[in-house]
Amino acid sequence: MMVLGIETSCDDTGAAVFNGSRLLSNIVSTQLVHRNFGGIVPELASRCHIRLILPVIEQALKEARVERKSLEGIAVTSGPGLAGSLLVGLCVAKGMSLSLGIPFIGVNHLEAHIWALRLSHPDIEPPLVALVASGGHTQLVRVSEWGRYEVLGRTRDDAAGEAYDKVGKLLGLGFPGGPAIEKMAAQGNPKAIPFPRALGGDTLDFSFSGLKTAVLNHTLSLSPEELSAGLADITASFQAAVVDVLVRKTLSAAKQGRIHCIGLAGGVALNGVLRDRMAADASPMGIRVLWPDPSLCSDNAAMVACTGHHYLSSGLSSPWSLAPDPSLNL
Ligand code: KG4
Ligand code: ZN
Repeated sequence: MMVLGIETSCDDTGAAVFNGSRLLSNIVSTQLVHRNFGGIVPELASRCHIRLILPVIEQALKEARVERKSLEGIAVTSGPGLAGSLLVGLCVAKGMSLSLGIPFIGVNHLEAHIWALRLSHPDIEPPLVALVASGGHTQLVRVSEWGRYEVLGRTRDDAAGEAYDKVGKLLGLGFPGGPAIEKMAAQGNPKAIPFPRALGGDTLDFSFSGLKTAVLNHTLSLSPEELSAGLADITASFQAAVVDVLVRKTLSAAKQGRIHCIGLAGGVALNGVLRDRMAADASPMGIRVLWPDPSLCSDNAAMVACTGHHYLSSGLSSPWSLAPDPSLNL
């Protein structure tokens, strides 16, 4: 079944074509305008999606060498995300569905991040524990089979990627903070500053807002010269605190559930230190750790097309009344 995927939940405008066995195209246009503001401005994001979505879809079809009339279904992110952004993708999906006479289906963005694992590793089989860590979400999910999920833990405040972004902003490293912090941290000592690891004990929930405040307080105690000389150590120590908690809780979830496969998903899964630590600590426990291809970690429409394909090909579709749900749960 030839499926067009559409993703507009946040600041990436994406379209992709998936035929059930092969990804034929995956186009993402990242909105750079938000870099001027140090974070995503929802109203600007919606306006950019309106401008970009049709050209992005055209490019996805062209690259896939697929004509509109060959499409058999449309998959579109319907939540969670920014209401105005979601609305743009959903309206376009409904319009195309109506004009082409084909079904459309609303896809949960978090579920799509998990399916990105399957897109990169077709042999991956549940049960698995997925760590979905991005700018908007940090959740530990037990995947007992494709389509059956149990949320084992989630952040009580900031998402892991959000902590990277806020710390990046306060250190003057620009937006998004993740890649800049990882690069700077490579020159620093991860043990230099003992930043807090919140929510120890048995809970699988996360908390990153105290860590962000600890970094802020530490920087306020330094002179401008000390701050600039200490940036590498601060970023390395911050990253060590985030990675420690993500690794410890993910391994604990796998151990408790006797699960031998861990999947990392979302933009934070691009982080090499997180991947290496997770894989190194999991290996002696006989646990395999996988992550998607880099182009499928951060927001993209390929994962949406793949998720939607699963449901559309078993006959499911969404009604015209489907509305965006900014706080949709798994
Ligand atoms: O999945 P994604 O593209 O969008 C959301 O759904 O939020 O994730 C974006 C997030 C940002 O917070 C960004 O700072 C973070 O992923 N990120 C990283 C890295 N690359 C991107 N965090 C840590 N290390 C990285 N290398
Ligand atoms: Zn995402």
